[in-house]
Amino acid sequence: MDIDSQIDEAAKILREGGIVAMPTETVYGLAADACSPTAVRKIFEAKGRPFIDPLIVHVSDMQMARSIAVFDDIAEVLAEKFWPGPLTIILKKKASVPDITTAGMETVAVRMPAHPIAARLIARCGFALAAPSANPFGYISPTCAAHVRDQLGDRVDMILDGGECSRGVESTIVMPPAVSTEGGALILRHGPICAEELAAAAGINFSQPKKANPAHPVAPGMLKSHYAPKSKLFLFKDLSEIPEDFSGRVVHFVRPSKVLGRDYWLTESGDVNEAARNLFALLRTLDKTRGDIYCQMAPDFGAGRAVNDRLSRASFKG
Ligand code: TXA
Ligand code: MG
Repeated sequence: MDIDSQIDEAAKILREGGIVAMPTETVYGLAADACSPTAVRKIFEAKGRPFIDPLIVHVSDMQMARSIAVFDDIAEVLAEKFWPGPLTIILKKKASVPDITTAGMETVAVRMPAHPIAARLIARCGFALAAPSANPFGYISPTCAAHVRDQLGDRVDMILDGGECSRGVESTIVMPPAVSTEGGALILRHGPICAEELAAAAGINFSQPKKANPAHPVAPGMLKSHYAPKSKLFLFKDLSEIPEDFSGRVVHFVRPSKVLGRDYWLTESGDVNEAARNLFALLRTLDKTRGDIYCQMAPDFGAGRAVNDRLSRASFKG
């Protein structure tokens, strides 16, 4: 089936209340009609996701976005500058969004993805799609269709294959001052768009939330340790931190000059975006065999911060 017919088929499934895995530029999402409680419930069930963890709602244009959420001035500027793209904005929700989608919160997370297949699918549906990452709850996000097939293949109605995700880490999540729980603009999750880019576009600073109260989660997905690999993952900055008797795998940030059988790397060139793109697929590959892993942290700027954030959540907390 060609891709147009596949998108038509997927839209039909979604209209009938089914769930479809779709490619986005960040990671694959597991989509359902955001305004249908029965359809959204299927996402939670397929992922084994607790109902307290709200979903991101994906739109294909501003009219659709305004039908589910209220945009303040800062949100308007961010949407104008970064959409379509890997930015999720927390906004005051409208009544059209059911409680199950937002885990009962008064706010809704909204994103306009840039991947052409996601964009065309949403437009074809004509309604917004709730879509968390298409992985079992607590595992690492999928960056190609095979990752979804391996883990959720028998639980979804269809998987649209859009190749490898170009960004490779989940979207940056921001909370504009108008809905912020702490007054100022917040970054709830590091992603491909960094704090400096956001500040330059909006003319205000974005800081990290000070409070992380599980009872009133600012970003529930951010609190727990996501992706617990079967192998223990340790982080390092400098090679000298690896114990001399360590016999497991070593993931370098950039390809080392001398490569041993146990060496892997996140980027050939040292580019933080390339590292982000490769991160999840490499961790999945390494997780197929046993053996501890030492992984080098990325430089602390741009998408490197998102890489370090995901690594620290995946690392062994003994
Ligand atoms: O790149 C992405 O954002 C991918 C693709 C598929 O778009 N989606 C994704 O969804 O990463 P998910 O479910 O894995 O992460 C969504 C997170 C939640 O765990 C929560 O932390 C935050 O978004 N979130 C959603 N709604 C929220 C709200 N109203 N307030 C605060 N945080 C919210
Ligand atoms: Mg996720």
